[in-house]
Amino acid sequence: MTVTVPSKINVHLSVGPVRDDGYHELTTIFQALSLTDSVTVSAAETPSLHVTGEGSKIVPRDERNLAWRAVDVLAEHTGRSAEELGSVSITLDKGIPVAGGMAGGSADAAGALLALATLWKLDLSREELTSLAAQLGSDVPFALHGGTALGTGRGEELVPVLSRHTFHWVLAFAQRGLSTPRVYRELDRLREVGDPPPVGDHAPLVEAMAWGDPHRLAELLGNDLQAAAVSLRPNLRRTLRAGVEAGALAGIVSGSGPTCAFLCADGDAAVQVSARLSGAGVCRTVRVASGPVPGARVVDPDDGG
Ligand code: C5P
Repeated sequence: MTVTVPSKINVHLSVGPVRDDGYHELTTIFQALSLTDSVTVSAAETPSLHVTGEGSKIVPRDERNLAWRAVDVLAEHTGRSAEELGSVSITLDKGIPVAGGMAGGSADAAGALLALATLWKLDLSREELTSLAAQLGSDVPFALHGGTALGTGRGEELVPVLSRHTFHWVLAFAQRGLSTPRVYRELDRLREVGDPPPVGDHAPLVEAMAWGDPHRLAELLGNDLQAAAVSLRPNLRRTLRAGVEAGALAGIVSGSGPTCAFLCADGDAAVQVSARLSGAGVCRTVRVASGPVPGARVVDPDDGG
């Protein structure tokens, strides 16, 4: 049983104050991108977790891995023990950078939820799956949902956003990942000592999405976490500049970073930008991706997947 799950970028990310539970109130517009992970689950004698692909060496193989926690969340929800449901082997094949601000860990959690629920024939409604996803992490419901969506609360309350156009992105992966809590703490610190300008209202961006014009969208990209990510990794400034010099319409730090996402005029432009950016020596790897794409979905074996 294999499920593919998209990565995400936040084309708009407005971070509000810290709540009593330690999370920040967000208003964000997510877009799911064609850079994906795949999650394969199968019945096994003993439980195991295997990881292959992009950054696989640094992915935890124990209960810190959200895909693993999906087993417990499903067991608790169904009132059956993990033993009753049956031991599973989980394999994550990663295309999404680890700790890169593209919700790779959340994608694996969403993929594991859907794959296990299908393997165990649990017949859960979409609402049930979404609520279990939110228990695993703020970005997990969006990984199930996909497309383009407005997220509020911790980012887990979703409303679809109309997006008529396919947008073309170039992604610059950094040498090392960034810890999401650390980036949020850095933003809190910057706000205590100064006044980093907040991103504006999201309404014009929603309109640009519906309109489907990348030039218009490029002017409206904004991420409150960018200042914090750049403060922790000053060389991201150079990466962001290099992407625009390579011909992108605009660049933004993706989520809590350090991946930088560059919006391009069309697919050909994205290929050109990626070639130039690869040669600029400002990042570890460059990838081309497009969005929006659907959320987590079971791969049909008849499609050769
Ligand atoms: O929900 P998730 O476990 O993915 O969040 C990881 C961390 O990111 C949280 O522990 C918190 O430090 C930070 N976070 C936040 N506000 C949000 C989402 C995440 O402060 N809305």
